[in-house]
Amino acid sequence: MNQNPFLGVCYYPEHWPEDQWAGDAADMASLGLKQVRIGEFAWSRIEPEPGKFDWAWLDRAIHTLGDAELHVMLGTPTATPPKWLIDAHPDILAWDREGRPRKFGSRRHYCFSSETYRREAARIVEAVAARYGNHEAITAWQTDNEYGCHDTVRSYSPEAARAFRTWLEQKYGAVDNLNQAWGTVFWSQEYCSFEQVDLPNLTVTEPNPSHVLDFYRFSSDQVISFNRLQTDIIRKHSPDRDIVHNFMGFFFDFDHFAVSQDLDCVGWDSYPIGFLDVGPFPAEDKARYMRQGFPDIAAFHHDLYRTCGRGRWHVLEQQPGAVNWAPNNPAPLSGMVRLWSLEAVAHGAEAVNYFRWRQAPFAQEQMHAGLKRPDGANAPAYAEAQQTSTELPKLEFIDKDKAAKVGLVFSYDAHWLFEAQQQASGWHYPAIVFEWYATLRRTGLNIDILSPDAAFDDYTVLLVPSLPVLDDALVDKFAKTKAQVLFGPRTGSKTPTLTIPEELAPGPLQSALPLKVTRSESFPDFYRVNGTFAGAEVQGRAWLDHVETELEPLAISDEGGLLYNKDNLYYLTTLPEAPFLGAVTGMLAQNAGVDLTLLPPDLRLRECGGLSFLFNYGPEPVTAPEDIIPKDAALILGDRDMPPAGVCVWKKQQ
Ligand code: GAL
Repeated sequence: MNQNPFLGVCYYPEHWPEDQWAGDAADMASLGLKQVRIGEFAWSRIEPEPGKFDWAWLDRAIHTLGDAELHVMLGTPTATPPKWLIDAHPDILAWDREGRPRKFGSRRHYCFSSETYRREAARIVEAVAARYGNHEAITAWQTDNEYGCHDTVRSYSPEAARAFRTWLEQKYGAVDNLNQAWGTVFWSQEYCSFEQVDLPNLTVTEPNPSHVLDFYRFSSDQVISFNRLQTDIIRKHSPDRDIVHNFMGFFFDFDHFAVSQDLDCVGWDSYPIGFLDVGPFPAEDKARYMRQGFPDIAAFHHDLYRTCGRGRWHVLEQQPGAVNWAPNNPAPLSGMVRLWSLEAVAHGAEAVNYFRWRQAPFAQEQMHAGLKRPDGANAPAYAEAQQTSTELPKLEFIDKDKAAKVGLVFSYDAHWLFEAQQQASGWHYPAIVFEWYATLRRTGLNIDILSPDAAFDDYTVLLVPSLPVLDDALVDKFAKTKAQVLFGPRTGSKTPTLTIPEELAPGPLQSALPLKVTRSESFPDFYRVNGTFAGAEVQGRAWLDHVETELEPLAISDEGGLLYNKDNLYYLTTLPEAPFLGAVTGMLAQNAGVDLTLLPPDLRLRECGGLSFLFNYGPEPVTAPEDIIPKDAALILGDRDMPPAGVCVWKKQQ
């Protein structure tokens, strides 16, 4: 882990008169910021006309920032191809699901499959990287900006159709293999050549789910190769600098684990209040956490992207005040910007960058707060960034963590599969994964969010909310861990091409956990499966697998067994409501010898590098109980009497 986390900011010199730059840079440095992230939307200023580059302003901007001893992270400007380029090559545009080209006038209007755009993107990245690759002020690069933002991973353009056919041909070799894999004999969907295969949009009723899943996988692969195109060029010109990309919150349309393989360090953009407003949270949570964001939103992504980055990650954009893009945009509770910053650090972030330095008085984001108001005065977040920058040096992390290793297995491919075949209106895989995460986090544990490809050896408890595609090797990996492993319903229920396995669900898991799902049903939101577990009443929802097995159920309902186990492996036949899940994970933790601390609803705990961090997400003050902050704890920040948005940090007793 990084032991000296630092702060930074996103800055757009092209938005401001040049005579403000030096003052801005000095102000940033005096605030204690170390990093400044620039350039990611500046193509129209870098290359105002085809082939005519204007580097002078960017040279001076980088020089000015470097002079103030700020480290510059330079973004490639490929999220915003300029108007002249689009007019010359309309084949660059992405098309929406309705088969309409998306227009110029905002951003991310390109299709990942456009050959023209790949050529043009390579050209501009080459030009920028060649010019600044060895510049001493440039310490890191960002590729593009937020791949997929504004629903842009899946494009339904002719260019995408062409590339999809090539992808299918590479995958299946012969079209008969595709027909077999997708079951195209159904409804006379058989193809005679790859040329005949179209994109799975605008069909009369649902398209073939195997076709949809392959299209989603292809679309993810296009992001991976587009990003790699950029990282290969940057590495050539700037070999010793980190390359990052800024991922988004609650966004799953491409495989972030895979894209991260080509990055040195991962970033993500944290807007907890915006995410709460747009997310499917219950009304009471939206009200209680309106100015804080739901307490697990930021942490969930910290724990996911830390794994993606193999331990190296930044918050590349931190919400500093009200944003502009949610239907409603409340300002954070006083103290929240500091809390979010410290919470990122508590999850191991190397850096937290605020978005943005000064609020722009023009264009789409003029209502989005920054550290500065549009008139240059300090906005409320400025003082919180200042306080955070004086507090970070007090946090002496040691490079050793004794926290129990608890993992939550998450698969992007599983998400696409369930999108292609939802089968229950209440089945939203990312929401289920988030709910399992939040339930587990209420017990005070550190959690790693893991890809199915991860090494599981160090874990004591592994939760697998669902993993529809399994193979023997993966089953073996789970069975051989020392971890207690809990699988949710629909695990092992599909082959890799989205058909039912010959041996039925849970497919190859049956060799280690001998039960067979003979049929499954799904339920509307109002229906609950009522059962008992460990003498208490419990409930499941949305799904029920009926199984054949010799195993005795650990939880049972009138409709059948709800939980089975053999050795270290457990299988739930329904989606457990939070108290049921809490009870099951409590049992697994106990079996694994892991201590749990049930946290009061608004408090969240994280241990990192020998320090314990406690966060009060509630709008009221709270006194932390002694089973959380021990009586004789050596406090470093804050106090056990925590105000709203309060943070307490103490040295963990080793
Ligand atoms: C992010 C994006 C930024 C800015 C910000 C506003 O999604 O990367 O460029 O638009 O949102 O909150």
